[in-house]
Amino acid sequence: MAIVYLNGRFLPEEEARVSPLDRGFLFADAIYEVVRYDRGRPYRLAEHLDRMRDGLAAVRMAATPDFFEAVASRLLAENGLEGRDAFVYAQISRGSAPRYHAFPPEGTPPTVFAFARQTDPPLPPGGGRAILVTDERWGRCDVKSVMLLPNVLAAQKAREAGAVDAIFVRDGFALEGTKANLFLVSGGVVRTAPCGPRILPGVTRLAAIEAARRIGFTVEERAFTVEEMCSAQEVFLASTTLWTYPIVMVEDRAIGSGKPGPASRMIREALIEEFSGRSAALPR
Ligand code: PDD
Repeated sequence: MAIVYLNGRFLPEEEARVSPLDRGFLFADAIYEVVRYDRGRPYRLAEHLDRMRDGLAAVRMAATPDFFEAVASRLLAENGLEGRDAFVYAQISRGSAPRYHAFPPEGTPPTVFAFARQTDPPLPPGGGRAILVTDERWGRCDVKSVMLLPNVLAAQKAREAGAVDAIFVRDGFALEGTKANLFLVSGGVVRTAPCGPRILPGVTRLAAIEAARRIGFTVEERAFTVEEMCSAQEVFLASTTLWTYPIVMVEDRAIGSGKPGPASRMIREALIEEFSGRSAALPR
């Protein structure tokens, strides 16, 4: 039985109870993070916690993610995940209080919930197809809030279309996936949308930029249109759970040769090596 963390206690998942008046439940008034662990070691934890601090400040929540490191270690141990490739999810809501939209009374304790899980099996190695969806998200996509309904609907649309993900398109620009940042490769240039309110500043995005530069690519943080994406040599997603993953078809248009390209593979290998120092041992 999985052991989870809730408000200072470690307990079986079935016994963990959150009030129906919790603001995370009623208003999606909560911030979350997902950190990858290999044999108990986190990947770029400081960057995840900085992003969580920024998110909490952006929504004016007086909580801190300082609990994360100790809670994650214990969750991995309690769930027998110390020796595995796993991730830890944590979310902080503005707590439970009678339902009024404005903030609850001062001193209302936040609800802090966390769980650990083994990473999902990798997606098929041959790359996948993505569909396009209109970006109907709010104007602060840089905040990692649990308010993910547009992402949920887009991910389901992708699943029903037999695609691996949906790409959010705003004003003709292809911005990111439902849970991953988006890159293209064209003429030796690796390109991704710039940080700002339209995308999540992904930890893997930055790691992929750094790896691409180390490998010798020119990197541009400049948004690209759907047309630019579809005529690129490679397109790939990047996230904590995927590393990089090649998109070989967008809607019904093949990208490049229609096969995974070398840039996304080289960057993926660099990320895995940085994480664990044993690139060959993990699935490609
Ligand atoms: N998603 N963009 C969006 C919209 C995301 O939700 C995520 C992460 C990313 C990639 O960020 P990072 O490299 O820091 O994981 C980009 C997590 C994994 C999730 O929601 O499960």
